[in-house]
Amino acid sequence: MNNFISMKDFEKEQIIEILNYASILKEKKDNTNICDKKIIASLFFEPSTRTRLSFTSAAFRVGAKVLGFDSPDATSIQKGETLRDTLKVINGYSDLIIMRHPRDGAAKLATDIVDIPVINAGDGSNEHPSQTMLDLFTIKEEFSTLENLKVAFLGDLKYGRTVHSLTEALSLFKTEFYFVANEILQIPKYILEDLDKKNIKYHILDKYDEILSEIDVLYVTRVQKERLPSLELYEKIKDDFIVNKESILNCKESMIILHPLPRINEINIDVDSTKHAKYFTQAKNGLIMRQAMIAIALGDKEIKKNQREKKIIIKKSEKIVCENPNCITHVENTENKVIEEKNKNFCYYCSREITL
Ligand code: CP
Repeated sequence: MNNFISMKDFEKEQIIEILNYASILKEKKDNTNICDKKIIASLFFEPSTRTRLSFTSAAFRVGAKVLGFDSPDATSIQKGETLRDTLKVINGYSDLIIMRHPRDGAAKLATDIVDIPVINAGDGSNEHPSQTMLDLFTIKEEFSTLENLKVAFLGDLKYGRTVHSLTEALSLFKTEFYFVANEILQIPKYILEDLDKKNIKYHILDKYDEILSEIDVLYVTRVQKERLPSLELYEKIKDDFIVNKESILNCKESMIILHPLPRINEINIDVDSTKHAKYFTQAKNGLIMRQAMIAIALGDKEIKKNQREKKIIIKKSEKIVCENPNCITHVENTENKVIEEKNKNFCYYCSREITL
């Protein structure tokens, strides 16, 4: 099954193959014959502008039809229906599911329930693989390579799923990382442990002015009010980092600024007119990247499978074992599957390490 759930599922060669396929589609004038007669279910349990609309537009551009919802408010979830039953039913109405959900691991659970492909359009603060693919596409278009770049992440690195997925992907390309955040929103320990295992160089910082002359990419994210434990905390930290034209005066000529958007105030609009601002190009690239991902998911384009599944052991448990309180296993009936890999245990759904 050609699912897009986590960047952990992709090896370097596959990522390059997918990016190249998107470039081929970009050159073609008309892609409407690729997925004609296919029906895509677009299920958004959380708000979205770019991901939902660019997936919908991408679906039309590859000839597919789209059904779905942009909020669970108008669905039978409001009557108490489970995600499991909702997905089982939609399985019979469509050929592909594109789903955004507030719970970590929800997309992975969907793959247990349905027998059609699933694209994760963002699961809680876990992952956002389609955003990562368009981020990589944008970086590659700018630098003609993904290798050996110095990439700084700024803002909400704790709950920022785009940061988590992009770090995972860029770790395959000898990236040097700079994680710049307030201590409360720093990059999670489990990601740093993973980078340590891979012997990848990174820096933990609370300001970015001194690294501007070194870095190639400044990837800014907003402080996510909806994921913080309290409004008081949000008010306290929301203005900690604001990038403006003056604050980037010492950056490299070639440095680019990316942001998954939406932005609140973390990039002043005076940056928009600089040559460094690439976030609107980045958002536009979502359209071609998501055409490629839909075509791959629906089987139009074959991508070599990765070998990870062969190296892991999957165990099941009677009780809930994931210690991540936002994991889908805490609210839906699951098999509480655990991945055993290199003598460690990880939640099958949200990938967090588990101490059994
Ligand atoms: N980048 C992103 O996921 O934006 P939306 O929340 O608007 O989809």
